[in-house]
This record gives sequence, C-alpha cells and structure tokens, in this order.
Amino acid sequence: MFQQRVVSDDFLGKWQQTTNVMAGIFDVPAGLIMRVGPEQIEVLVSSHTPGNPYEAYEKAKLNTGLYCETVMATRSLLHVPHALEDEHWKDNPDVALNMISYLGVPLLWPDDEVFGTICVLDSKKRSYQQRYVDLLWEIKKAIEADFRLMEQQQKLISSNADLLDANRALSVSNGELKAALDKIGAMQAELLRAEKMSALGNLVAGVAHELNTPIGNGLLVASTLKSNVGTIARELATGVTRKHMDDFIGGVDQGADILLHCLGRAAELVDSFKQVAVDQSSRRRRQFDLRKTFGEILATVGTLIRQSGHQVLCEVEGDITMDSYPGALEQALLNLINNALVHAFPDGEQGQIRIAACRRADDFVEISVADDGIGIPQANLVRVFEPFFTTRLGQGGSGLGLHVVYNQVTTALCGSVQVMSEPSRGACFTLRVPRVAPASPSPA
Ligand SMILES: Nc1ncnc2c1ncn2[C@@H]1O[C@H](COP(=O)(O)OP(=O)(O)OP(=O)(O)O)[C@@H](O)[C@H]1O
Ligand SMILES: [Mg+2]
Repeated sequence: MFQQRVVSDDFLGKWQQTTNVMAGIFDVPAGLIMRVGPEQIEVLVSSHTPGNPYEAYEKAKLNTGLYCETVMATRSLLHVPHALEDEHWKDNPDVALNMISYLGVPLLWPDDEVFGTICVLDSKKRSYQQRYVDLLWEIKKAIEADFRLMEQQQKLISSNADLLDANRALSVSNGELKAALDKIGAMQAELLRAEKMSALGNLVAGVAHELNTPIGNGLLVASTLKSNVGTIARELATGVTRKHMDDFIGGVDQGADILLHCLGRAAELVDSFKQVAVDQSSRRRRQFDLRKTFGEILATVGTLIRQSGHQVLCEVEGDITMDSYPGALEQALLNLINNALVHAFPDGEQGQIRIAACRRADDFVEISVADDGIGIPQANLVRVFEPFFTTRLGQGGSGLGLHVVYNQVTTALCGSVQVMSEPSRGACFTLRVPRVAPASPSPA
C-alpha cells in the first residue's frame, strides 16, 4: 500500500517549471509528475504544453494497467515506444487519451518508499536515445533531492513544535513552581509570626516570673512593717519600753533596706525588659563611621575594661561608613562585650577580647566580638539567645542580654547573628548586617 506524501506549494511551483522545460526538450505534449496514494494515483504536476490531455490533480484508479503502475512496481525505467504495436500495452488506459508512447522512471522518497513517477507521453511513436533517458534520470534525481529537503523541513517544523510544546510545559511547571514557592513563603511568614507570638508569650511569662521574687519579697516586708507599726502604736498608748522602741526602729531600718533592694531589683528588671522590646521610636537612622562608633562603645566600658585588666583589641578593615541604626548596634555590641567581661574569665585570669569588622562583597558588614575565655558548653550554645537563659541566676544575670542582641540585630539592623564556641577556647559572636539598612526595618 502506498502512502501519499504532502508537498508544499513552493516545491509544486518549482516542479511545474521543471516539467514544462522537460516536455519542451522531449518535444512531447505531456510531461507529468505523478503521486501515488493508497488507492489511486494522481497527476501532481502536468506540463503546460499544447495538446496535453492531463490536468493537475486528475486521479486514476490503480490496478488498471497504467504505464506508471509498472514503473512503480518494478522501481525501474519503462520505455514503451508504441503501445499499439505492443501486445502488452495496446489496451492500457492512456491509449484512450491517444498517449501511445511512454518514458517514465520511479520517484522514491528518502525512506525508499515510492512517491510516484516522472514521465513523458506522446501521441506518436517515440524511440528515445540514451541521452534522453539520462536526462530523465537527472531530473528524477533533482526531484528526489527536493524530497530530502522537504523531509528535513518537516523534521525542523516538528522539532520546533516539540520545542514549543516543551516550552509550554516548562512555563506551566514554572507557574506551578512559583505557586508552590508563594505558598511556602506564606507558610514561612505564618511560622515566623507564630514563633514571634510564642517568643512573646514566653517573654511575658518570664517577666512575670522574674518580677515575682522582688515584688513578693517587698510585699512580705511591707506587710511585716505595717503589722509592726500597729503593735508599736498600741504599745505607745499603754507605755512602751526603750528596748521595744529600739527593736522597732531596727526592724523598720532593716525592712526599708530590704524594700529598697527589692524595688531596685524590680526597677532593674523593668529596665532590661524595656530593652528587649526594641523600641521603634528610639531608633534613629543615620550614617556613621564604624571605627568611630567602636571607639565610643569602648569609651563607655573603659573603666570596666581597665579594672578587669583584659586586653581589648579593635580591628576595622578600611573605612566602613554605615547607613543604619547606630543605637541598636551599640546596644548589641555593649551586651556582647559585657558578656565577655562577665562570663568568659570567671577565675579572674586575664584574657583578650577582640572586636573586628570587615566589609563583604555583598555590601554586608561582618562584625565579631571574640574572647579567649572558658567558652560556652555545646548544650548551652543553642539556648544562649533565649530570653532568661543565664548561668548566673541569682548573681545578677537576667538572661536577657543575648536576647536583646538577637532582637536588635535581626529586627532593627535586618541582619543575623551567630555564635561559635568550643569549651576553653573562647566564644565568638558574629553579626552580619547590611551596610545600608533596608528602607523600613520590619516592626519588632
Ligand atoms: N563570652 C561568653 N563566654 C562564656 N559564656 C557566655 C558568653 N556570653 C554569654 N555566655 C553565656 O550565655 C548566657 C546568656 O547570656 P545573656 O547575656 O543572655 O545573659 P546573662 O549575661 O547571663 O544575663 P544579662 O546579660 O541579662 O545580665 C550567659 O549566662 C552565659 O552562660
Ligand atoms: Mg549578658
């Protein structure tokens, strides 16, 4: 069974010219290019020559004894000089059109399937010389070269279509990816919000817990004082001994001391809590030179450092001008330096505290505060930024210092903070903050 091939108009136009010239050279009324289909054969191109009985797109049934059928079946040249003188050909269908001589060759598609034929027909007896036969073969080869071109074009078109399909599929999966990313972003924001809320809840619980001790103690002392005053008032009415009066005054004095201490501690705690809630209004953005700011910070803790006897090194790589929130940075660095002074050298030995800053390629600034003290045990490393985590409970530590550092760095400075430490090899806190803070820092 034959498969009918599709031919584009460009090639049809070109072959029309070829067929016209061919009919002229052969001096015949009909030069044809035939295309075969599953059940019939059709005139694909018919030469524009006088006396040509064939019209383009005219079809003929197969298995009717056509000259072309033999060419296609044998896949070789057929030359019938005079059909009426040939027993085999005298009744073939083209004789009815008075086409009694035939010269034709098969046209083969690049996959070697038969496309059809190219042939010349005449109404008189023709015995073609070899050079005509050769010419017909050359024309056949030229047309078969066009077949190969057509097939390549077809392949290009279909691979282009494949590419378009792949592109379409890609943009669909791109869209899906984007949607998934958006969803993840939303989930992340929700998680962050939830985390903040739970951190806030912990903080409130912690605040209540911490304040409970000094206020509870204060209340106890105040009520004792009140009951003592009642007793002395009654005794005054009936007469009070000198000893009782002295005891009372001593008790009031002691009670007042404890009250002062409790209230002082409560005030201190409230002060630290205020730092935790990074106060928007206290943030003032401006340009500042990092080296100068370091100098100011060290001046603030100058006395403490001198008393401790530790060596403090300050190293800023080049000039770094920041456009950010110096108040927040100062607070964070002060807490880190204080921690090094308080925690790193508990046995009174002298060590080194190194504060360094350098600019990174992505316009971030890396600031580190490192000491060579006792370090932080592995188990505590993950907890040090938690509010109220302290190893100096009852010795003046509230465990809020590093939480304040974390809040200031992430919220006001829009950066991040990391801690590295190995026991007895010191601790190093590294801040990574944008040199130029983003337009509006996210609210605390
Ligand atoms: N440089 C350091 N060397 C060793 N341990 C440290 C250092 N810095 C912090 N720590 C540990 O981390 C804990 C938490 O520090 P943080 O500053 O939050 O609280 P604190 O210093 O104990 O109390 P606060 O700062 O509120 O007075 C400290 O108790 C200490 O155990
Ligand atoms: Mg601290």
